[in-house]
Amino acid sequence: MVVETIRWVGGRDGHTVLIEQTLLPRENTLLEVRSVEGMVDAIYRLAVRGAPAIGVAAAFGVMIGVQGERGRSGEELLEHLGEVSARLAAARPTAVNLFWALDRMRARAQSEAAAGADGDGIVDALFEEGLAVWSEDRETCRRMGVVGADLIADGATVLTHCNAGALATAGCGTALAPIYEATEQGKRVAVFADETRPLLQGARLTAWELMESGIDVTLITDGTAGRVLAEGRVDAVFVGSDRIARNGDVCNKIGTYSVAILAREHGVPFYVVAPLSTFDRDLTEGAMIPIEERPAEEVARGFGPPTAPEGVKVYNPAFDVTPARLVSAIVTEEGLISEPDRDKVEAVLLAAGATLTDA
Ligand code: MRU
Repeated sequence: MVVETIRWVGGRDGHTVLIEQTLLPRENTLLEVRSVEGMVDAIYRLAVRGAPAIGVAAAFGVMIGVQGERGRSGEELLEHLGEVSARLAAARPTAVNLFWALDRMRARAQSEAAAGADGDGIVDALFEEGLAVWSEDRETCRRMGVVGADLIADGATVLTHCNAGALATAGCGTALAPIYEATEQGKRVAVFADETRPLLQGARLTAWELMESGIDVTLITDGTAGRVLAEGRVDAVFVGSDRIARNGDVCNKIGTYSVAILAREHGVPFYVVAPLSTFDRDLTEGAMIPIEERPAEEVARGFGPPTAPEGVKVYNPAFDVTPARLVSAIVTEEGLISEPDRDKVEAVLLAAGATLTDA
């Protein structure tokens, strides 16, 4: 049974409940979010994190932002929605699912307004849409798991980086979904989890949720990834993504690029598991992806006392970009994109009804 990371409680007067991930694994505490500021803060602090979960959090943030608006005209509601969305959009820059969810909510509101709905009608529709973002994410994770499980043989050992599991989605995860599914199918699967400096999502979150699910996990430092690959102890690498450009370049947690190079050097397949909501319809290559830079303290004193000299210069990008040529396949809910390139990625997006525009 995988953990439930984020959900909506109640109806129009309800609120969001999410696992406060900054406290894991010491404490498994739930956080109630009842304001837009609270949601922006939860996303920025990484109380809720991982691209699909951030998308769901943004959709729920919109619901919180409009729930108190009663008796408004359609036009007034749309204007208010624009302000709420702008605040949520500023929470974090890299995971495109956040912007995808806000765009989806705006599109729904606009189509209701165009059909003559007043403010209350639009709010009702936004609630329906936000809950659909949540439930569709659960189903999408399940489908990615089924597609990806075929890439995992009985007895395989998989290496993963960061946390792309249940804690990063509303469902059973992206990169970890095939591991959960393969295990369900009766295959024996073992996992090496990179600890993932500086905020230790691998150690704190991936190791925790896999242990909760009874899956064989071994924690390694990031520097040990090369060692276990050189020892021939890894059959495949599975990672998630925060944003994929239309040429197949993949942005994910800092350190993913190094793992991809190591995997190529050692002839080990490197798989990226991501829903179509993680593909950027506007960006033609990975170099265009905005990379979040986070505070120096996360590196120099991440969890308490200083681990570096006071005042040292720190460079702390939260993500990096792995070129498409290092990716063996991208696992999506619609199937596998093997050796991704622009033609293959754009074909999948167009088949899913996406509109592609060059930024
Ligand atoms: O900074 P985080 O913890 O939000 O970074 C998360 C990742 O990099 C994940 O690998 C990515 O969002 C995919 S999650 C399904």
